[in-house]
Amino acid sequence: MTDDPLDFILEDHAQQNDWCDSLEAIADSLPVNIDYDLVEGCLAFLEGPLEAHLKDEDNGLLPLLKKRVLPEDNLDLLFKEIEQEHQMIEGATIEIKEQLEALLKNIKEVDTNAFGYLLRSFFEAHRRHIAWENLVMIPLAKRRLTQDDLDELKQIMLKHREHPI
Ligand SMILES: [Fe+2]
Ligand SMILES: [Fe+2]
Repeated sequence: MTDDPLDFILEDHAQQNDWCDSLEAIADSLPVNIDYDLVEGCLAFLEGPLEAHLKDEDNGLLPLLKKRVLPEDNLDLLFKEIEQEHQMIEGATIEIKEQLEALLKNIKEVDTNAFGYLLRSFFEAHRRHIAWENLVMIPLAKRRLTQDDLDELKQIMLKHREHPI
């Protein structure tokens, strides 16, 4: 992990944009030109890095940032919006994971039109979510978090990536 956990989050966002491109490629390939390696890759991404990233923000970055903003910043709405979007992302990824798994087992089980629509609404919303966090949340965190906050955030993020044996 990079020394600055906020830079690590920015790197995560760049990776997530690449995975959004992969999900778009899957949506474009339905129903007959599917790259099953890409399906497996997307599944692994949704189950691992994306899940860890949401926890980094929900359990690490946002609580730390809430402690540092000033009442006159009027950021309650911003935090609420990010948290709501995270809930939507979590809900959508559960459905997408089920459909990707079904695709790997037997494509006949999948309504490819509906799945294509689900994928498109997800990656379009997710790209907007990332752009907005990069534009507003990260610069705010860079201005407000102390070195102690950053150290704490880094420890929290490392924990989210530990794999119990
Ligand atoms: Fe987020
Ligand atoms: Fe994020």
